[in-house]
Amino acid sequence: MRLAIVGAGIVGRAVAELAPDRGHEVVAIGDSTSAVVADGTGESVDVDAALSRKAERGIVGDDAPDDVLAADYDALVEATPTTLGDAEPGFAHVAAALERDRHAVLANKGPVAERFGDLRAAAADSAGEVRFEATVGGAMPVLSTIEDHGAAHVDAVRGVLNGTANFVLSRMAAEGLDYEHVLAEAQDLGVAEADPAFDVDGTDAALKCVILANVLSFGAADNIDDAREFTLDDADVEGIRNVAGSALDLAGEDGLTVRLIGEVADGSVRVAPRLVKRNSALSVSGTTNAAQIETASAGTLTVSGRGAGGEETASAVLMDLNRLQ
Ligand code: HSE
Repeated sequence: MRLAIVGAGIVGRAVAELAPDRGHEVVAIGDSTSAVVADGTGESVDVDAALSRKAERGIVGDDAPDDVLAADYDALVEATPTTLGDAEPGFAHVAAALERDRHAVLANKGPVAERFGDLRAAAADSAGEVRFEATVGGAMPVLSTIEDHGAAHVDAVRGVLNGTANFVLSRMAAEGLDYEHVLAEAQDLGVAEADPAFDVDGTDAALKCVILANVLSFGAADNIDDAREFTLDDADVEGIRNVAGSALDLAGEDGLTVRLIGEVADGSVRVAPRLVKRNSALSVSGTTNAAQIETASAGTLTVSGRGAGGEETASAVLMDLNRLQ
């Protein structure tokens, strides 16, 4: 497929680097500061030029995303940072692709969590499809597992959905390190959001839960106009700032640990630190995510995988592109 990538941060760059080996051609990549657009010779763009912010054959300036959107592509990859509320400019980028009957694959959680109904409506009017596996759990294939099983047959989903918070909690418990020190490590690894408060206050996990809630709600509805739409306002959220090292030590003495658990069940969305058994499927370490999908007829399905990071998240974008081919 010919790809245009909006957002040249960690995820957008990783998609650009992995895509050619998977048979895709990157025809444009850029963000608000620079863009590189193919010159029409059929060659992939020089991604290094975008990465170094030198737009050798492209355009530099405030209109850079518009130049990416105007390229001749089959699928748009939306990898700009997550924004809340109206989820702009990410939503407008996706809408522009759909209006041209192109596919859109999102790594940006904002449009999926905050404007799910609008996204579904825009896709319904387009020959293009929208996919967003990368928005929940990085490399962990939770959305495709729900899709394969059928959203109408899934009763609940709960799990570890934020790699940064999990990294902090597991390093604090295992190494006795303090919160600030471990959070700085997570930022150095490039797994934390641009504003790490999103991670440690539970907002990022809540957005992922809202996406899951919408996937279940719209997937189970006979008519999408009747589906209940969830947004961040519907989530009950508590982060990990108040989890003391002493509490982790006490939990460890009883064979337990603390994990930030997101849960979608019975029409509610909750994120909070919870005690889990050390040998349970949700007791994952580092940036690993894990999700338990409760189904009506197949019991509980568990998926796990690296939930953050450039290549990991890009791998989920590539999964989506495979499903579009
Ligand atoms: N900051 C996020 C995390 C990245 O730590 O899980 C993936 O959404």
